[in-house]
Amino acid sequence: MAKFTIEFGRDGLPPADNDGRLDAPAFHRNHDAIWTALAEFLDEKTNAMPGHALELGSGTGQHVVAFARKTPSLTWWPSDIYESHLASIEAYRRVAGLTNLRAPQRIDLMDDSWRWRGNDDSDRLAAMVCINVIHIAPWRVAQNLFAGAGRFLASGGHLFLYGPFMRDGAHTAPSNAEFDTSLRTRNSDWGVRDLAAVTALGQENGLKPVKIAEMPANNLVLAFERR
Ligand SMILES: C[S@@+](CC[C@H](N)C(=O)[O-])C[C@H]1O[C@@H](n2cnc3c(N)ncnc32)[C@H](O)[C@@H]1O
Repeated sequence: MAKFTIEFGRDGLPPADNDGRLDAPAFHRNHDAIWTALAEFLDEKTNAMPGHALELGSGTGQHVVAFARKTPSLTWWPSDIYESHLASIEAYRRVAGLTNLRAPQRIDLMDDSWRWRGNDDSDRLAAMVCINVIHIAPWRVAQNLFAGAGRFLASGGHLFLYGPFMRDGAHTAPSNAEFDTSLRTRNSDWGVRDLAAVTALGQENGLKPVKIAEMPANNLVLAFERR
């Protein structure tokens, strides 16, 4: 599978000298809007839910650092498959110095029996977050993400997805249709997913949809709750 294309900072420079931190320009464009959607469930002013939160496909690590900073009662566990991404996440973690952000772990969602390693085998997750992953990966990744949510989320815990989605088999904007074509050209197993198919995965794994939040540039945040 092709690597997530990392571009360095908006000024074309890496954020630090060779310390491993990578910069995804999309983070700067999307982060505030994504947090606004998640805050309804995770903001500690209204929902002080202590526990653990796992991010899948963390990429550079920029999102997880920002989320951890906003939710001191939640312990965040980032993950990815690529060594360069794991190194970037760790470098951001070191710089941030947050006590509620754990070291990244390698989790491959292509693995049907993937697991996360918490403090304890009995740890259950209050939240799982997966941003811009399931369209840039085979459908099996989405299937295994939801199966894992069924296994590891606590009752009442939430799974959040961000990305472009089709509705009733149709793209919601010409730009999403073009993006879908470019994804499928790069890899025939990739592609913008249909909301109904994703919701069906939720149903199969005991997760009900509780929120669809419209995001800038024709993206959505989907929130599912474990029954
Ligand atoms: C487009 S990037 C998004 C990164 C990050 N979530 C963000 O929004 O900045 C997709 C990420 O999914 C990860 N990924 C791809 N295939 C994966 C798999 N099978 N299991 C877990 N992560 C995967 C990639 O390494 C990459 O970091």
